[in-house]
Amino acid sequence: MKQKTYNIPAITKFQQKYQTNKAKPQQLKIASINTQRGTAIYGNWKMNPSTVEEAVALSHDIMLKLDPYFKTKPATAEVGICPPSGLMTIVNGMLLDSRAAKPVQIGAQNIHHEKKGAFTGEMSASLVKSLGASCVIIGHSERRGGQSAYESNKQINQKLNLAIDSKLLPIFCIGETLKEKELGKKYDILATQLFEGLKGLKEKIKSGNEMIIAYEPVWAIGTGKTATSKDAQDTIFYIRRFLSHLIGIEKALKIRIQYGGSMNEKNAMELLSQPDIDGGLIGGASLKAPEFSKIVQAADVKQKIHQDEKAATEAIKQFNLIQANALERLQKAKISRSRFYDTTEAMLKDLKAKKQLQQPTQIEIKPRASV
Ligand code: 13P
Repeated sequence: MKQKTYNIPAITKFQQKYQTNKAKPQQLKIASINTQRGTAIYGNWKMNPSTVEEAVALSHDIMLKLDPYFKTKPATAEVGICPPSGLMTIVNGMLLDSRAAKPVQIGAQNIHHEKKGAFTGEMSASLVKSLGASCVIIGHSERRGGQSAYESNKQINQKLNLAIDSKLLPIFCIGETLKEKELGKKYDILATQLFEGLKGLKEKIKSGNEMIIAYEPVWAIGTGKTATSKDAQDTIFYIRRFLSHLIGIEKALKIRIQYGGSMNEKNAMELLSQPDIDGGLIGGASLKAPEFSKIVQAADVKQKIHQDEKAATEAIKQFNLIQANALERLQKAKISRSRFYDTTEAMLKDLKAKKQLQQPTQIEIKPRASV
């Protein structure tokens, strides 16, 4: 049975309603420079490694690399590993045994969409939880697309429900295939996956912290072809904007949205420095301890950006103060507005020279017409 993901009537309906791929200026106001969402770097080991011994060795190596980093300072990123289900207990044990100041979360790669019952070869949400998992990947393209299963959006919706009910953090994967991208269907696909996957979840998502979304373009998974940081940012921003229609702006601004697809030690920092990219779901590179550890550390770029944002906010405050004072003087002196802006600019330059503004480039002064 082939999964239907587009050209269903519902799309047209909600596209008309929300105009999903038209960026209205007022909607763009929710552009989120909010780096306080936190960053989440999770490794998806998929069907690797092949033996318990290899899994023990890999877990050990990862902790060996992360331990010193975790100890020097509070890590920026929340870190997790999703091994195959049969390895969860042993990997969890290894991660718990570690002396790491900050524990690494353990996650599952899937759960069944029913609570329990006669489903040979499947794992329930409650079992996954009791095996020590704190999160679960849901709707990975390798399960949607027929490599492992033909999961439907409906089943994914049931799984998301179950995961949240079981206090598991779902990492909800969405993404378009190369063909869909080439046909210009990317936004339809993402909108459908979000719309169908999150049906009825508005109330369950109370703060936005109950879920991570992972944007994984299928064409980038395991291919070495990463989306450009601009493309990834634009698409993730679109996702956040669409989410705001589904669950409300406040929650949409809080939900962490990861990028996944050939993320590696070389491109991680560039991707993570984008304002809407709140982490990564890492496949191949999470199987190499040094590389995974470097990706985790690349998330520090978020902290740096956050500090810069604080500096910029402070600078803007100062600027507003100058504006207010200057406006007062302007009113007293009855000089023209354009001169007011000239005056303000001069004052700003003065401040820059005195290095009192740390982020002067963030401020735009637009001279206005004289009054
Ligand atoms: P790669 O990092 O190997 O491209 O895999 C990404 C992925 O599918 C994570 O879930």
